[in-house]
Amino acid sequence: MENNEKKRSSFSGGIGFVLAAAGSAVGLGNLWRFPYLVAQYGGGIFILVYIIAALTFGFALMTTEIAVGRKTKKSPILAYKAIHKKFGFLGYIAALVPIIILPYYCVIGGWVIKYMATYVGGAGRAAADTGYFGSFIGSSGSPLIFFAIFLAVTVFIILIGVEKGIEKISKFLMPLLLVISVIICIYVCTLPGAGAGIKYYLLPDVSKFSFMTVCAAVGQIFFSMSLAMGIMVTYGSYTKKETNLTKSVNQIEIFDTVVAFMAGFMVVPALYVFSGEAGLQQSGAGLMFETLPRVFDQMGGGMIIGTLFFVLVFFAALTSSISIMEAIVSSFMDKFKMTRLKACIITIVICILLGVPASLGNGAWSNIKLLGMDFLTFFDYLSNSVIMPIVALCTCLLIGWFVGCKVIIKEITRNGERMHRKKLYIVMIKFVAPILLVIILITSSLSQFG
Ligand code: PHE
Repeated sequence: MENNEKKRSSFSGGIGFVLAAAGSAVGLGNLWRFPYLVAQYGGGIFILVYIIAALTFGFALMTTEIAVGRKTKKSPILAYKAIHKKFGFLGYIAALVPIIILPYYCVIGGWVIKYMATYVGGAGRAAADTGYFGSFIGSSGSPLIFFAIFLAVTVFIILIGVEKGIEKISKFLMPLLLVISVIICIYVCTLPGAGAGIKYYLLPDVSKFSFMTVCAAVGQIFFSMSLAMGIMVTYGSYTKKETNLTKSVNQIEIFDTVVAFMAGFMVVPALYVFSGEAGLQQSGAGLMFETLPRVFDQMGGGMIIGTLFFVLVFFAALTSSISIMEAIVSSFMDKFKMTRLKACIITIVICILLGVPASLGNGAWSNIKLLGMDFLTFFDYLSNSVIMPIVALCTCLLIGWFVGCKVIIKEITRNGERMHRKKLYIVMIKFVAPILLVIILITSSLSQFG
């Protein structure tokens, strides 16, 4: 608690808060997950739906969570209860999400380390070979080792308490990631035939729209903006009363969306050039790892750019995994009054228990399926398409119908700030978001069981 109190007053001001929250938000969700969803859900139409949903739904939910945190000054497990005593359960469900995400996040983080090591070791060319990625994740042993390394680095940082130092480094590295991304995007635009790929990425093809597009976009908003899992409540609880929350929410959202957009721009048009639309539709979770090495292979100075790129992705993933693990550890400490070390050990055990199947699901255990999915896909589905929509739905009901939007609006405007899009906020929280979330929950369960 003491530690929390110290932290709770630690954001120096608006921009410190925005950068810390952006450090948590920008990660594999933007760089790895967003591009392959764009590819799977038909290019431009997914981007359009994502941006509309981010500006309405994402904005309303992020505003709510940060305001709940600042108002109650409590960690999520206690914050929802402090808003309404019947909603104590919500903190617990929200706390479950990081526990499910962290293990598979570390698996993907391990893939990033593998690629980083390959490039740093000067073997980047080999990564461009077809089949390189497949044979790596299919090999069972090697991905497990890299998973363990990523987990160990995360734990090490949390245990010796240098998160602040890593955050400082990443404040400097993140802009660099943007610069490198711009360079890669410009190069992709010069590939012969890039025009058609860029068109596919930017121009929405309405005939590709289905309700699954909305489900996927909303799930991605949760994941990418670290929503519906208590994380933004925690960040809100560390924010000063003077900080202008509407402005901060806008900045975090814009930053997160720009990084995702650029990540998509780097790979989707490029793969379109290499393998056409069919190639995009067949691609899956390996998209970033399979396509970018091919881009680097063709690009002048590509090996240096590739090395830098994977180092930066590693740092972006690390700041996120630290924030996911912090959330779990502090929930355990708050709830069970345990020491930090004990909470860390339990978190590591959970990570191994869930992370090993998530990793082996692409190799030795690929014949084991849960609801027709390998373990990693199943954990991703469970968190993004089931638990997060439930948390978001309950949050909307709590604020919209149990305590009233006024509570949040009052917190946002406490220093006399104007709240932009206030009407939109109320309509979203009371009506649109709950209805949408119910439909999403039905659709995503039907798509599995139907
Ligand atoms: N938002 C992060 C990303 O895009 C992932 C994350 C999930 C971070 C949960 C914190 C909590 O990669």
